[in-house]
Amino acid sequence: MHTNLPVREERPWWRDAVTYQIYIRSYADSNGDGIGDINGIRSRLPYIKDLGVDCIWINPWFQSPQKDHGYDVADYMDVNTDYGTMDDAKALIKEAHDLGIRIILDLVPNHSSDLHVWFQAALNSEPGSKERARYIFRDGKGENGDLPPNNWEAVFGGPAWERVIEKDGKPGQWYLHLFAVEQPDFNWENEEVWQHFRDIFKFWLDLEFDGFRIDVAHGMWKEKGLPDVDFAEVELLDRHYRPYWDQEEVHEIHRDWRKITNSYKHDPMLVSEAWAPTDQRTAMYVRPDELHQSFNFSFLTAKWEAKSLKQIIDKSMTEVVKVGAPPSWVWENHDVVRKTDRLDLGLQNKGKGLEKFGDPKKLNKERALLRARAATLLELALPGGAYIYQGEELGLFEVRDIPEDRLEDPIWKMSGHTDRGRDGCRVPIPWTKDPAGAHGFSSNKSITTDKAWLPQSEGWGERAVDTQQGVQGSFFEMVKAALTIRKGEAGLGDGEMNWIDSTDDVIAFQRPGKFACYVNFGPADVVIPYGAEVLISSAPLKGEHIPADTAVWLRLP
Ligand code: NOJ
Repeated sequence: MHTNLPVREERPWWRDAVTYQIYIRSYADSNGDGIGDINGIRSRLPYIKDLGVDCIWINPWFQSPQKDHGYDVADYMDVNTDYGTMDDAKALIKEAHDLGIRIILDLVPNHSSDLHVWFQAALNSEPGSKERARYIFRDGKGENGDLPPNNWEAVFGGPAWERVIEKDGKPGQWYLHLFAVEQPDFNWENEEVWQHFRDIFKFWLDLEFDGFRIDVAHGMWKEKGLPDVDFAEVELLDRHYRPYWDQEEVHEIHRDWRKITNSYKHDPMLVSEAWAPTDQRTAMYVRPDELHQSFNFSFLTAKWEAKSLKQIIDKSMTEVVKVGAPPSWVWENHDVVRKTDRLDLGLQNKGKGLEKFGDPKKLNKERALLRARAATLLELALPGGAYIYQGEELGLFEVRDIPEDRLEDPIWKMSGHTDRGRDGCRVPIPWTKDPAGAHGFSSNKSITTDKAWLPQSEGWGERAVDTQQGVQGSFFEMVKAALTIRKGEAGLGDGEMNWIDSTDDVIAFQRPGKFACYVNFGPADVVIPYGAEVLISSAPLKGEHIPADTAVWLRLP
């Protein structure tokens, strides 16, 4: 496949940046309260620099009651006190930039927290008031309005409507929340909401932050009249269709934001979290006047299987390239089961919680790590941008033994305690093998593994940073070496890509500079092309052969 992507000298930084995702709560705790914070990130900048990424994406750090760990924002123009101060934020951006690392933040425009001043004002105002018009309030159905206005369901479980008590003390209108009850949806038909977000954009971009990851970028706009979901028709015609996802009008909002980023000299970028039903629809979010990148969720939800994965790569890449955008590869984030587990067990993940197929007890840790390593080399050899979620560079596993009374994800409660949610991939990072300070996560040595804000698993220290950094052959050192090679190769990142003919069990492609990537999914070994030089492999090669579950980067003769 010929991607026609521009070569490195002519392209903006974001087209092929490698971005490291930081779930701030779990990264590094500088003040010893057991919760990660901004100064913790500052203290780890040398580590991030050593890894060799171009950019950091920080999960929401704004003021928030933390009902959905920051995705419920009470004030978009201030940082959460648990995480630090605005001065800390300013120091972080300066220090990161001094090291040549960019930072993007995580903007949550579909909903706010119920503690946002606007929502509080809405609760204290009359139905029909301008305060209520910033959110989606409706009268209920039924004689006394005691049935929800429509049949929409919240992503985390249960109905998407909550009834409020009016000033007269009686149950009154309902408000829409597509996620948790504490996350009321904004009304994007209201001009004040548009202006609020323009102000937020400018507030952070003026401080030279390098852009935003846009949460639920396919949400925001709801179909006029808020019609019921016709589940029978949805099942028949398009099982992804909902009158609140991926509506045409949402693109107008992204166009508005692109105009803002275009007006900044430091070239900020926007990456969309858009769970659109097809690759073609996902690509619409990255048309030239919209967002810069969109996470490739077809890739993230793929199984470890050469034929289907190759098709997914090909198809998703074709669609974004058609609109001139770079592909954006991602295997892990804070919402999905770690890829170590997923690629071994065949777990699939549909964007919330754990989809439980594949028996976790059957996890083969050795094979899981082999696959995770190979998957990382595959990702970093593909054209475009790539994302690495904290701990992915260490080959962390999903944590499955968090006691039920310690689960924090709102999904646990809202699913009626049937879905354990996403905490298993959010456990604090092990920096040291020594368990003190919950394996070096906290400056407070008295924090033990079970006392971290989410408890760490038995053996969590085995994959700690200090057991891997500087240790030849470790997961960390493999990622670091791959990133070094990627930087040195003019044609890696953005640039042309052509498939190399191979068997059904192999993915092989060539990039500029005679660079090639081979991934062998097994079971048979695969011969390395004659005369090729090995640049890096995800596992030891068997002489001239690539073993199963192994990726290799080559320079072809
Ligand atoms: C997607 C985020 O990644 C997830 O963590 C969050 O719960 C929902 N959006 C709601 O904001």
